Amino acid sequence: MKKRVAIFISGGGSNMVRLLEDMALPGHAAEPVLVLANSADAGGLAKAAEMGVKAVSVDHRPYKGDRPAFEAALQAELDQVHPDILCLAGFMRVLTEGFVAPWEGRMLNIHPSLLPKYKGLHTHARALEAGDKEHGCTVHLVTPALDDGPILGQARIAIEDGDTPDSLAARVLVQEHKLYPAVLRQFAAGNTTPITL
Ligand code: GAR
Repeated sequence: MKKRVAIFISGGGSNMVRLLEDMALPGHAAEPVLVLANSADAGGLAKAAEMGVKAVSVDHRPYKGDRPAFEAALQAELDQVHPDILCLAGFMRVLTEGFVAPWEGRMLNIHPSLLPKYKGLHTHARALEAGDKEHGCTVHLVTPALDDGPILGQARIAIEDGDTPDSLAARVLVQEHKLYPAVLRQFAAGNTTPITL
């Protein structure tokens, strides 16, 4: 039986598309059952639907000030498709312990830095400001602490003279598109050995 995967996105969903493409290839131990965005405007929703995957939105805005109610609405969508694995792929809402705890060990996230460096936002600018020589991305298991949790894979790139946050983001994204599918493929098959690209 294939593992059932739900993916949460907030925007264009390029990582989500790569995960769907990889799961469509032979020999993958998982299959997608849901793509969920926190806004109906998220460009990735149409892409997921085109690829034949159930795509829904749960707008966070009506729940302003009531995160548990927003998270209950997210969980209600998950309960309809009972996934085994939940992948955050550019999902830009912070999830509380109440949501995360039941998913611990089954929820993955991709973050655009070499964790534990640069948790949170503006990772590319912060790596440049720090004068780092290398940068990259991390896939990790989600724990209640933001951008924390056991690392399942990292991909590194060199920072070059003249790099800007945008140029770095573009090169890191290319690596994200390789790393996340590789990690999910292995994780779904029961292997949590960290991957290094
Ligand atoms: C990706 O770069 C991902 O690492 C980042 O958002 C982008 C989403 O792009 N995630 C975070 O910053 C999470 N804190 P995508 O929608 O094209 O996959």
